[in-house]
Amino acid sequence: MSEPSAVQTPQAFSPRIFSGIQPSGGLTLGNYLGALKRFAEKQDEGTQTIYCLVDMHAITVWQDPAKLRQQTREGAAAFIASGVDPARSILFNQSQVSAHAELAWIFNCVARLGWMNRMTQFKDKAGKNAEAASLGLYAYPALMAADIMAYHATHVPVGEDQKQHLELTRDIAIKFNHDYGVEFFPIVEPMIEGAATRVMSLRDGTKKMSKSDPSDQSRINLTDDADAIATKIRKAKTDAEPLPDTLDGLKDRPEARNLVNIYAALAGMSAAEVIVENAGSLFGTFKPKLAELAVSVMAPITTEMNRLMQDPAEIDRILGAGADRAEAIARPILDQVYDITGMIRSRR
Ligand code: AMP
Ligand code: TRP
Repeated sequence: MSEPSAVQTPQAFSPRIFSGIQPSGGLTLGNYLGALKRFAEKQDEGTQTIYCLVDMHAITVWQDPAKLRQQTREGAAAFIASGVDPARSILFNQSQVSAHAELAWIFNCVARLGWMNRMTQFKDKAGKNAEAASLGLYAYPALMAADIMAYHATHVPVGEDQKQHLELTRDIAIKFNHDYGVEFFPIVEPMIEGAATRVMSLRDGTKKMSKSDPSDQSRINLTDDADAIATKIRKAKTDAEPLPDTLDGLKDRPEARNLVNIYAALAGMSAAEVIVENAGSLFGTFKPKLAELAVSVMAPITTEMNRLMQDPAEIDRILGAGADRAEAIARPILDQVYDITGMIRSRR
């Protein structure tokens, strides 16, 4: 009996960056600072960058079809308005490249129930009634691992909340390589960097800023106009103390810390530099300064998003062209996965 056809098992992987965002609602300043802004920076540093609107992840919780379509286009507009150039990066939506779903099935058979049971995002999203959660929500991290591994991506820029999912991605890659005796999948490196890896709610400094928070005052949306941004920052919860002269002085002041982090990320400074520059300032002074900075950075992005959204057909064209390029990388990798796992592929 002959062995499965020879599989290439590269020992070293050239660096390739992959990341994704769910088109499950309006994007926030947290998505911009924790993800989009950094996606554009990574592209500009010259590594190959692949960015995906993960529509199949979005439907792990109910999505109205018309809204999902709209939000996917809006997400694509947000990437482009934030500096992701579809000519230099690959930008597409997940469902157009079936390799993601195919590899996810294989990873469903690699990942262990015990691993999935530890995922805190599932627990948070499923809430008290986990029995009623979709099977897809539970398997979500295996699809995410497939997104990354379908491209042999080596580096994944994300916000802090995705750290556990990336550890699972590593575990799946290690187990696959081990079980099949190959060095086929790279072990990814999370890139959780910068001053704003976890932007917090403007109403509660202990909660993540999130598109699903019931209070619109808790977040800055990428679609907010200048007035809305300024008002939300002016009304953000803070304490009555002036800003300290060292970062240590922010230790038990989560709301103050959050505004300093946001300022730092928007200005391209470190939080320590912001403190040096603003030591002794009261929020009556610091908030207007932050509002002005936020408006100057965000307003052009919002304007550009609105302009791009005028031409949905052009956005769809960009996503389709991106999907073609993504497919060209993922398909040969998937073919090898089928060989490794012993699936007969005789139609080629
Ligand atoms: P999601 O909107 O959940 O698909 O997240 C897309 C990306 O934005 C991921 O890399 C998240 O880690 C990041 N992200 C979401 N919310 C925040 C936040 N409040 N602070 C920093 N990064 C965030
Ligand atoms: N789970 C990520 C989030 O909610 C989105 C995502 C899906 C992702 N697939 C990915 C991020 C692959 C990075 C790489 O934020």
